[in-house]
Amino acid sequence: MVTVIFPAAGVGRRMGAGKNKALLNLCGKPILVRTLLAFSGCDKVDDFIVAVGAEEVDEVSRMLDKTPGLKPFRVVAGGAERQYSVQNALAALSPDAEIVLVHDAARPLVTAKTIEAVVAEAWRSGAAIAAVRAKNTIKIVRGDGVVESTPDRAKLWEVQTPQGFRRDILEEAYRRAEQEAYLGTDDAALVERLGLTVHVVEGDERNIKLTTPEDLWTAEMFLGRDALGAAKESVKNAGMEFGDMLDELADKVSDAAAKVKAYAEKQEEKK
Ligand code: CTP
Ligand code: MG
Repeated sequence: MVTVIFPAAGVGRRMGAGKNKALLNLCGKPILVRTLLAFSGCDKVDDFIVAVGAEEVDEVSRMLDKTPGLKPFRVVAGGAERQYSVQNALAALSPDAEIVLVHDAARPLVTAKTIEAVVAEAWRSGAAIAAVRAKNTIKIVRGDGVVESTPDRAKLWEVQTPQGFRRDILEEAYRRAEQEAYLGTDDAALVERLGLTVHVVEGDERNIKLTTPEDLWTAEMFLGRDALGAAKESVKNAGMEFGDMLDELADKVSDAAAKVKAYAEKQEEKK
């Protein structure tokens, strides 16, 4: 079985909305709901564990209970750091979970293609992350603002989620991180510390993490473009259907005209 853990227990400080950004509305649906629906449309994953703030568990459970089309889910209390939220969710895994994906609730634009690629690579190699090639030149800068070095851009990737792992690998990585009081910025970093290989699968530029209000506008633009594309397509199809109806009507009219003509000719013969 493949279980997806969604850390959604942040406070959204940089979004500045005064509440957990996962619960903000994005084009008519809460961001968290959009994220869960994206995974619910993928038959390679089976169930979900959502980590939210301890005081949000009831509210979010009620909201998700009312949302049609979701895979089976559980809501647990997260922690003060993303890593602790994931750790709490790991503790709630069912014994059947073999592959575990971790995906930021704040990335609602993830595609089925990316999810499937991560799941497939996690089954194959045990550790897979979605990432895109760095577009900008990145510099290592010292604390005093002086450039130390410029890593070769060809080797730099911007890491996203989902990140997928064999369950035993991820559990061991989290156990070790806790023992050594290590706090990483993604899940793969914990697995790398075990000395294990992590494989990159090419993600999607649209799979952005909604961090600031500008990111929210970008997401609205992407969704707006999709909606416009779909609307254009249906107008085109409706136009085609209308064209077919006109053709059919024209056939019927000429059929009827032929019948009238034949009748008139018969009448003429009788005279
Ligand atoms: N997250 C979490 N538990 C935390 C902190 C973050 O589950 N203690 C989740 C967030 O809800 C989000 C994901 O981890 O889905 C990525 O984190 P980030 O974008 O940093 O979200 P926030 O921590 O909410 O935002 P900020 O850092 O601006 O406060
Ligand atoms: Mg944060």
